[in-house]
Amino acid sequence: GNEEKAGDTLPLPPHVLIFPLPLQGHVISMLKLAELLSISGLDVTFLASDYNYGRLLRHASVQSRFAKYPGFQFATISDGLPTDHPRSGDVVLDIMMSLKACGYSQFKELMVSTNCFGSSTSDRRRRPITCLIMDGVLSFAAIVAEEIGYPYIYFRTVGACSFWANFNIQQVINAGEVPLRGKDEDKVTYWRKEEMDLSVTSVPGMEAYLRRRDLPAFFRVNDVNDPVFQTINIETRRSTKAKALVLNTFEDLEGTTLNEIRKHCPTVFSIGPLHAHLKARVGESPTPSSNHSGSFWEEDRSCVTWLDSQPPKSVIYVSFGSVTLLTRDELMEFWYGLVNSGQKFLWVMRPDSIVGQNGDRQLPAEIEEGTKARGYIVGWAPQEEVLAHPAIGVFLTHSGWNSTLESMFAGVPMICWPYFADQTINSRFVSEVWKIGLDMKDSCDRVVIERMVRETMELRRDELLERADHMAKLGRKAISEGGSSYCNLDRLIEFIRSMIV
Ligand code: UDX
Repeated sequence: GNEEKAGDTLPLPPHVLIFPLPLQGHVISMLKLAELLSISGLDVTFLASDYNYGRLLRHASVQSRFAKYPGFQFATISDGLPTDHPRSGDVVLDIMMSLKACGYSQFKELMVSTNCFGSSTSDRRRRPITCLIMDGVLSFAAIVAEEIGYPYIYFRTVGACSFWANFNIQQVINAGEVPLRGKDEDKVTYWRKEEMDLSVTSVPGMEAYLRRRDLPAFFRVNDVNDPVFQTINIETRRSTKAKALVLNTFEDLEGTTLNEIRKHCPTVFSIGPLHAHLKARVGESPTPSSNHSGSFWEEDRSCVTWLDSQPPKSVIYVSFGSVTLLTRDELMEFWYGLVNSGQKFLWVMRPDSIVGQNGDRQLPAEIEEGTKARGYIVGWAPQEEVLAHPAIGVFLTHSGWNSTLESMFAGVPMICWPYFADQTINSRFVSEVWKIGLDMKDSCDRVVIERMVRETMELRRDELLERADHMAKLGRKAISEGGSSYCNLDRLIEFIRSMIV
């Protein structure tokens, strides 16, 4: 009980263990959650993979960002991959499967042997873990928590829309609304086009806009014993066993879907958009000036100087997040589409993002030369700052959930080229529900790209900007004092406090 005291008088605060899947998009948003809890005076242990911990600490600003919270500490766990594994590009499955194999015993050992990350790991007195907030794709950690008797909360880095579709994956299969893929068939063409455009009727609340082609590729399985399908199904369903579910979204954006989820998960806290919520609570200006984001790569701020010299809303920001890979053909289609549109662009090309490029950033000569007049290429950008820059007119994105929220909050319309997982649903919502962008899924064609740039930058510009501005306003309202996300975060903290035994 409250007999655990920090000094002679103050009771020790709750101690939360935060455990993300060790991937960039997950670490970025869960570090924000960690900081939001730290600001509120909670003790936080952030469990990173050894490898990612090393990458994070290469950036001094991550250390200085958390140094101001004496209750914050990092702890580490192995991701189980061999040391020489490149851990770059599309490694989601490798990491999930590797952790699944080695995570249970490692995590159990950690939970038992380290005094549950209590006082032993630093000079500071802290409680053993009060509760865990774990990435809702790490069921081995949930099993350990259940066995040792620790309450756990699930956090999902995806939107309510894709969470809810995944939650219903079995119903979608039962309804025959996904095809069982034949062995050698291409992932997009195994149904005829008109069949791909049929509505999905088995996800409650989404009948009006969800089509078969919007479902993630992992719905398109050979049989229901497919390991990826099973993993998604089991992980998502396990959310009903968690004490609560925390989502990086807000009520005015996804209230209808959140209410569907609430019929199955007892307590859902929507506290997003986290990046903006954090800034609001820290009291920072909406435009950051240094790498606070938890990026694994060094942010190249020279692109901000380049943007400073561009006219308002004149530049297309192009970024496909941290795991997307482009083939050389796709790269060329994007490049010609952008160049032919006549607009300027700022393009993030991660060194490991072009298939067959081996991280050496040797771009085709026409791109190196041609870009000088048209745009600017960086390896990794300070994305939040870029999206908030007045020179940005449109975001050509892979529709990762963090990117979607960041763009929406900055009032920047999107052209969506979803790559995998939740992104095919996010892009559908961006175009059909929130109406703040266009969805070019299932095509990568310079003519389509050029047309979509014209539509977003010229033909439909005012309408899209007006909608984007409206959604940004709703987002600002959610994280302001008295707003839904603001109140839900306070409720979440009270909920955690109430778990102190
Ligand atoms: C993945 C999934 O795609 C995403 O949907 C899920 O919610 C989390 O895991 P990722 O593909 O990396 O993440 O995309 P996204 O969610 O958009 O996250 C990328 C993050 O990296 C964003 O916060 C973005 O601001 C940041 N970023 C990206 C940079 O800081 N600089 C860059 O140059 C590119």
